[in-house]
Amino acid sequence: MTEKKLAALLAEMSLEEKVMQLVQLPGSAYDDTANITGNELEPVDPRVKQLAGSTLGILSGKTAKRIQQEYMAAHPHHIPLLLMADVIHGYRTVFPCPLGLGATFDPEIVEQAASAQAEEAAADGIQVTFSPMADLVRDARWGRVMESTGEDKVLNGRMAAAMVRGYQGGGALKDEHTVASCVKHYAAYGAADGGRDYNNTELSEHTLREDYLPAYAEGIRAGARMIMSSFNSWNGIPVTGSAFLLKQILRSELGFDGVVISDWDAVGQLIPHGFAEDRKDAARKAFQAGVDIDMCTGAYADHLTELVRDGEIAEKEIDGAVMRVLRLKNDLGLFENPLRGFTDCTRNTTLEERRALARKAVAESLVLLKNEENLLPLRGKRIAFIGPYADSRELISTWAMAGEKEPVVSLMEGAAAAFAHTKTEIRISPGCTLLDNDTVVSFYQYHSDTWEEENERMLAEALKTASWADTVVLCLGEHPMQSGESTSRADLHLPKVQEQLLEAVAAVCPQVATLVFCGRPLALSSVAGRSKALMICWLPGTEGGNGILDVLTGKMPPMGRLPMSFPWTVGQEPLHYDCYATGRPKPAEGLGSFTTRYLDYPNEALYPFGFGLSYGDTVISDPVVSAVDLSEKGELTVTAILENRGDACAAHTVQLYLRDVSASRVRPVRELKDFRRLTLQPGEKRDVRFAVTESMLRFWRADGTFGSEPGKFQVWISLSSRQGNPAEFVLKG
Ligand code: NOJ
Repeated sequence: MTEKKLAALLAEMSLEEKVMQLVQLPGSAYDDTANITGNELEPVDPRVKQLAGSTLGILSGKTAKRIQQEYMAAHPHHIPLLLMADVIHGYRTVFPCPLGLGATFDPEIVEQAASAQAEEAAADGIQVTFSPMADLVRDARWGRVMESTGEDKVLNGRMAAAMVRGYQGGGALKDEHTVASCVKHYAAYGAADGGRDYNNTELSEHTLREDYLPAYAEGIRAGARMIMSSFNSWNGIPVTGSAFLLKQILRSELGFDGVVISDWDAVGQLIPHGFAEDRKDAARKAFQAGVDIDMCTGAYADHLTELVRDGEIAEKEIDGAVMRVLRLKNDLGLFENPLRGFTDCTRNTTLEERRALARKAVAESLVLLKNEENLLPLRGKRIAFIGPYADSRELISTWAMAGEKEPVVSLMEGAAAAFAHTKTEIRISPGCTLLDNDTVVSFYQYHSDTWEEENERMLAEALKTASWADTVVLCLGEHPMQSGESTSRADLHLPKVQEQLLEAVAAVCPQVATLVFCGRPLALSSVAGRSKALMICWLPGTEGGNGILDVLTGKMPPMGRLPMSFPWTVGQEPLHYDCYATGRPKPAEGLGSFTTRYLDYPNEALYPFGFGLSYGDTVISDPVVSAVDLSEKGELTVTAILENRGDACAAHTVQLYLRDVSASRVRPVRELKDFRRLTLQPGEKRDVRFAVTESMLRFWRADGTFGSEPGKFQVWISLSSRQGNPAEFVLKG
């Protein structure tokens, strides 16, 4: 449909019909098998149901098709219903959770994964996914860090853009294999105070602009068609009621012209926030701030028409929002083909291809943190896989809603396949329960009356298996429901029962390689101390067991890098590498009295952002700059030499960091600017070159403008955010 025809359609619609395009109902309003319930909204007024412009959470193609057909037949203008869902890290085929995807440092595979997810979701009629979550995250207590790609703005920006491109197929939304992408949760939802979900955010404007906004902006630049406004307030104003964030920054400064949708009930939540008196006031404030679609509150449905009639909202403002929704429906090809998708999903790629991609993504996401005596890759002849994750299909997060457990490859299955037809024998033993008794996970409390007996029995059996083995792979971790929405934790340890299992097993067989399955950084110092090797496996998804065995056996070198700092202790949170320089930095040596420090723990992470080992033995030289001066329009090159002196293949993400030595505002001690992965065969030596330009040196200056400032800069090329010596150059004025 042309823009003119869309305008003509709009002109034919009544005010009520227009308002209803801005109303989203939960899937349960149309079908009670939808996996989303409508809470306080039900029962839904039949008229609203007939006219509401969109719904979410219907994860069955058959049901969605029926609903669309019935809806179209009843709609006075035959405007199709927009079907949205949370396709976060997989649909039928589940990829590693987003934090694991962040650990790949590989935007290409992340784009391919998004494209595969879009294909499967679109085949069930889904037209919009609420992904990527581009929230910068610095606090491991917040359970939703699992849904982010980490603590760094450059990494997050590249990953958000890659996901948008993957979902939207480069923007050709009429292609039935694609879905439109909704970047969320704008803005600064990841900075929740105390790491407690739904909490408010107190953040300076310069930190918001420099650190928190860039990844959303990259998603927008990549063409995302929708933005979700977040639950939190920013500096006292709920985002869903903030014209400064939704109009000035989002529309005017970032140039976003797509649809803004609220998060679930965020419009209604303006009332408990103490920002709106009642639902009518909430509808007025959210709409005036710039929220186009009200997700599942019903406040727009009940009050927007009346607010226009009262003269509080101009009808042309409603028209603007409705046109944005109609344009999206039109760009998706829904007017010509309301039954877009709804086909067998094996058209672009086969299921085997998507699973092979997922397997590769798992292998790329694994982060090897320790490997004493080169315990890995596994060489033993009697290998015991012990622990609650040794034979578990619970390898997918709560956000892979359509993902089924049945096709998940457990570690046991991966190991059985990897060691079939070899002389290596494997044994499996669960060792302990996944949780301590009476632990609250997400929305339920785990309790077992026979917990103690069960654990005694499992421990005895595990110790027998460990004494048979020459190597133990200990498979520990968080419960998948301990990360995700509403899963903040004030303790970042593994369950006690698992730490005890490690201690007991290591006493019997010290050759322990520990795998940790988790959706957030954990405090792993005692686990690391008792293990010869330690590898983070995240929540790896459908191909978990296969991808992990590919790395454990050396078929693939470990290549993941930490996308978030892993702390010594929860008391260090929020923790991130790119902190602002202080006037009293702690010296590298000594107690550091009267400098910024903790008495009882280091300032730095146990394992910092960007860190991860590979096989082989790789060294990197100090960087060399091609010139000492950089002009405003010029470019200089920084080079380092990477050499694999070991006898195994190695894969490393080489990272470029900069520091502005003196500026009108205090600057971070280091900031990632670029990264690249290199694979080196044994004995191989390679030059790594990065370009540095003036645009990389810009920041939110003391005068409230973006730009660079002449002066001295330091530059590192290193294998983590903590390693290496810097070179220097000067930006000329
Ligand atoms: C609430 C969550 O915060 C958001 O991430 C999600 O997309 C919506 N619910 C819809 O399910």
